[in-house]
Amino acid sequence: MSDDFKRLAAERAAEDVKPGMKLGIGTGSTAEHFVRALGARVRAGLDVVGVPTSERTRELAEAEGIKLATLEELPELDLTIDGADEIDPALTLVKGGGGALLREKIVAAASLSMIVIADESKLVECLGAFPLPIEVNPFGLGATTKAVEACFARNGLQGKLVLRGGAEHPFVTDGGHYILDAHLGRIADAARLAHDLVAIPGVVEHGLFLGLAAKAYVAGKQGVTVVEP
Ligand code: 5RP
Repeated sequence: MSDDFKRLAAERAAEDVKPGMKLGIGTGSTAEHFVRALGARVRAGLDVVGVPTSERTRELAEAEGIKLATLEELPELDLTIDGADEIDPALTLVKGGGGALLREKIVAAASLSMIVIADESKLVECLGAFPLPIEVNPFGLGATTKAVEACFARNGLQGKLVLRGGAEHPFVTDGGHYILDAHLGRIADAARLAHDLVAIPGVVEHGLFLGLAAKAYVAGKQGVTVVEP
C-alpha cells in the first residue's frame, strides 16, 4: 500500500516538470518512482536534463533514457524532486535514510525550488522518531562521535548514535563517508541542532533539511494532498 502511495505522489510531481527544465533527481524508493514516471514522459518527447543525487539514481535514470548532467555542468537547477523520511508541518525534513543526504542537500540547495514526494506515513508533528542520519568523515570517527554526543547534551537531547552498517562493515556513502544514525525520539528545535551539528569538525552534513522544500505531494487513502509550509 505504502509503495502505491509513493508512486502516486511521484507521478503527481512528474506532471509538474516542464520542457527545458534542469532537474535535481532524488534518491530512494519514492524518487525511483519519480524517475520511472519521468522516463515515460521523456520517451514521449519531453526534453529535460537531470542531475542525480546518487550513483543508484544515476544508473536508473540512465536506464530510463533521461539526459543527465553533473552539478559542475549545471550549477543552477530549476526544480529538485526528492523523497523524505520525515516531514513536519513547516516542511522541515529528515532525510538520509537511503544514505544520499549530502548530495541531496547540495542539489536541493542549488535548485530554485524543491518538491518533496512521500506517502502519508512520513508526515509528523515533530521530527525525530526516525533516526537522524549524520554523515561523518571516517577519520577520527571516535572523536567526532563524542563531539556529536556532547552537542546533543547541549541541546537537551538524549539518544543513541549507531554507526550505520556496524563497525565491521560500515555503510560508505557515495562521497566515501560514514553515517551515524542518531536515535533521538524528538527534535524540538531542529534549527538549533542543525546549526550546532555543522559546526563540529568531522561532521560532513546532517539529514535536517530546513527551508529547502517549497511543497510536498503526500499520498494516502484520500489521494494526493499538497502540503505547503
Ligand atoms: C535518501 C533519502 C530518501 O529520500 C528517504 O530515505 C526516503 O526514502 P523512501 O522514498 O525510500 O521512503 O533521503 O537519502
